[in-house]
Amino acid sequence: MQRDHWTSRFGFIMATAGSAVGLGNIWKFPYMAGAHGGGAFLLLYLVCVLGFGLSLVIAELIMGRMTRRNPVGAYRKIAGGAWPAVGALGVCTVVIILSFYCVVAGWTIAYLVYAIDGTLAPARAGGLDALFDSLIGSGIMPLVYAFIFVVATILIVSRGIGGGIERASKLFMPLLIALLVVLAVRALTLPGAVDGLRFFLTPDFAALDGATASAALGQAFFSLSLGIGGLMTYGSYMTAGQHVGRDALAVVLLDTGIAILAGLMIIPAMFAAGMTPAEGGPGTTFKVLPAVFASLPGGHWIAVGFFALLVLAALTSSISMLEPVVAYLVDERRMSRTTAAWSAGILCMVLAVPVSLSFGAWQDITVFGLTLFGLFDTFASNLSMPFGGLMVALVVGWILGPRAIAAIGPEGRTVGRWAGGWLFIVRFIAPIGIAWILIQGLI
Ligand code: TRP
Repeated sequence: MQRDHWTSRFGFIMATAGSAVGLGNIWKFPYMAGAHGGGAFLLLYLVCVLGFGLSLVIAELIMGRMTRRNPVGAYRKIAGGAWPAVGALGVCTVVIILSFYCVVAGWTIAYLVYAIDGTLAPARAGGLDALFDSLIGSGIMPLVYAFIFVVATILIVSRGIGGGIERASKLFMPLLIALLVVLAVRALTLPGAVDGLRFFLTPDFAALDGATASAALGQAFFSLSLGIGGLMTYGSYMTAGQHVGRDALAVVLLDTGIAILAGLMIIPAMFAAGMTPAEGGPGTTFKVLPAVFASLPGGHWIAVGFFALLVLAALTSSISMLEPVVAYLVDERRMSRTTAAWSAGILCMVLAVPVSLSFGAWQDITVFGLTLFGLFDTFASNLSMPFGGLMVALVVGWILGPRAIAAIGPEGRTVGRWAGGWLFIVRFIAPIGIAWILIQGLI
């Protein structure tokens, strides 16, 4: 059977940027930055993304394009031995991520409904906290929304690469960016917002510690969809004529730019709302943004547009989590695409039930001091993804070695001398950096 591939370079960039840009940028990045010292977090985040994140995005895409396989098959083909287990760990991790991602995406759908039916406006101070708490505290509604989201993901993935995934991403990404710019400008001009700007942009060097580094690394990997086979799978649909290095750069710049924009939008709004940045947590976006909407003319429509686009941004990411699992089941287990998508999706829904309850009724059940959501997130972002990135670096840097350089450019064309620097980063900087931060995180 002929393997699917992207229909154009623009489509690939939009789909891969669609994977990278999601709730990680707009929901998670701002509250993580708030919890970990603002500017110090931003600085370490940028160090991780530019220092080795970009290089690893290229490396993971190469593994996919060279082998044209799912993550398990890609590791088997390049490295053999016990390496396919690394791909399998990635596939399992993606399932874990999707099981909490769909819960947060479900809240986004709920807020879209609130925006449409007027529950959100007028946004009263204090009323917003209560609104969010009553949503996540109710047992059933968050799950209904989460299930709707997973079913949408399944339906798109069932349709395959060009038709579903690519088409959706091309349309919505540009709209999202335009709206974020408007909202950031408005948030920055709210009374009290300047303190938030200062907090976000000036690093407090006392906050530059192992915990911040571990959080920043985890966030960088999460946001770049890196280390657990998502990019490998998307890379496996790239065509021979594509320039992996150039296209990866576009994706990484888009992802990082949008995270910073979201920080400029949410953090000043937190200060304006009188919330201390450290106390925000996973509810931050939902608690502070409605006040920003309310302060704008036509705020009702802006709220509707924003939550609609956020749902779509989450969808273009969630499909890139389901796709590696489906690629694995189709390639290795000979399942049909549709059966594979439904099986994996239903597994995520089952796991989503305890995750959703861990925000409400099961809030007090903790393991290592973490709720189930915290446990899933920490395992995925702070352990499995950096570990997977380390493995990509070892496979591409040391097993493929100089051969990998020939795989960066369009087939049969050599790339510039910067590729030597890239290989140096993949071989030395990335493994040492990740290993050091992983150890910091554990102690
Ligand atoms: N990068 C996405 C975000 O920031 C999340 C994501 C999408 C992801 N695909 C992934 C994370 C694959 C890990 C693996 O929202």
